[in-house]
Amino acid sequence: MPMHSRDKKILVTGAGGFIAHHLTSRLKKEGHWVRGADIKLPEYAPSSADEFLKIDLRDRENCAAAVEGMDEVYHLAADMGGIGYISQSHAEITLNNTRMDVGMIEAAHRASVQRFLYSSSACVYPSHLQHEPDVVPLREEDAFPAAPEEGYGLEKLYTEKLCEYFTQDYGFETRVVRFHNVYGPLGTYDGGREKAPAAIARKVARARDGDEIEIWGDGLQTRSFMYIDDCVEGLVRLMRSDYALPLNLGTDELVTIDELVDIVSAAAGKRLVKRHDLSRPQGVRGRNSDNTRLREVLGWEPKIDLRTGIVPTYRWIDKQLGGAGAHHAPLAAVAAPR
Ligand SMILES: NC(=O)c1ccc[n+]([C@@H]2O[C@H](COP(=O)([O-])OP(=O)(O)OC[C@H]3O[C@@H](n4cnc5c(N)ncnc54)[C@H](O)[C@@H]3O)[C@@H](O)[C@H]2O)c1
Repeated sequence: MPMHSRDKKILVTGAGGFIAHHLTSRLKKEGHWVRGADIKLPEYAPSSADEFLKIDLRDRENCAAAVEGMDEVYHLAADMGGIGYISQSHAEITLNNTRMDVGMIEAAHRASVQRFLYSSSACVYPSHLQHEPDVVPLREEDAFPAAPEEGYGLEKLYTEKLCEYFTQDYGFETRVVRFHNVYGPLGTYDGGREKAPAAIARKVARARDGDEIEIWGDGLQTRSFMYIDDCVEGLVRLMRSDYALPLNLGTDELVTIDELVDIVSAAAGKRLVKRHDLSRPQGVRGRNSDNTRLREVLGWEPKIDLRTGIVPTYRWIDKQLGGAGAHHAPLAAVAAPR
């Protein structure tokens, strides 16, 4: 069956979460039969999956039930959050994700799934390559010699290798994507697991013109941010490609966190004062994606710039909060990106 066939049976894990929810909608639009699996239902909009299993994927029997009868698996479920969240609970995050990832790859292989896509992260890259805001973009081969982010990043790197070993030893077709900071509507925007764009959009939405907002770190730390539509496009393209090694998926539009705040403020039409809190975690100093291999492999790269993508993101978060400053409240900390 050609890989672009429109009648595949596809499992999307993490379908109660941000990226997998959007991916499910895209795969449904293409005409596939989609099963979603997650420990929770989507919070902000119903899933368009044909079937949704509300299950805990740390349990191996649940992994087996989820993959049954599937042609392809996009495995996006993970215990994750912004830098505040993943800097704590190393044991719990590592254990939860190890159990899910090992269970899922083993079950998918046993069930003779044709292709298995694993969602990794830029957190696999060594921290010593990310000490400067004006950072050299990270190439895929920079992940080794390894010095990943504690806990979350280490586990991702381990599972990347597990995918490679399953391919080498069993001929199992795997794809590995390394996301760089994804944002957009329907992403977590409060509760402690949110990432920088959503956290900043929430703060800006709650502030009145001229208010002060708190930023984690000195605001000079840098990242690149990818809009959700580009992320989903890249995922589908990677799954259909013949490329089995880890591949960056992000933009190479490097911005400081202060610039991100200015872009969100401009989208909101507000002028705000930044108060930097140096006691808060800020993650690595600078991180950017080298997209050379992405362009070679997919003949494509993310196109939506931050100024464009932040507008629907801000509007959606503003609406969740009751619209135009309706819920003005004292501002809590703004999470720095991972
Ligand atoms: N969003 C980003 O910027 C980013 C960056 C790097 C990597 N990633 C990776 O991409 C994937 C998707 O991220 P996201 O931003 O959509 O996160 P998300 O938190 O919105 O989605 C992850 C989903 O996994 C589910 N999950 C957690 N534990 C589970 C369990 N035991 N059983 C079943 N489901 C469980 C959660 O309930 C959640 O709905 C994750 O693997 C994440 O590590 C995301």
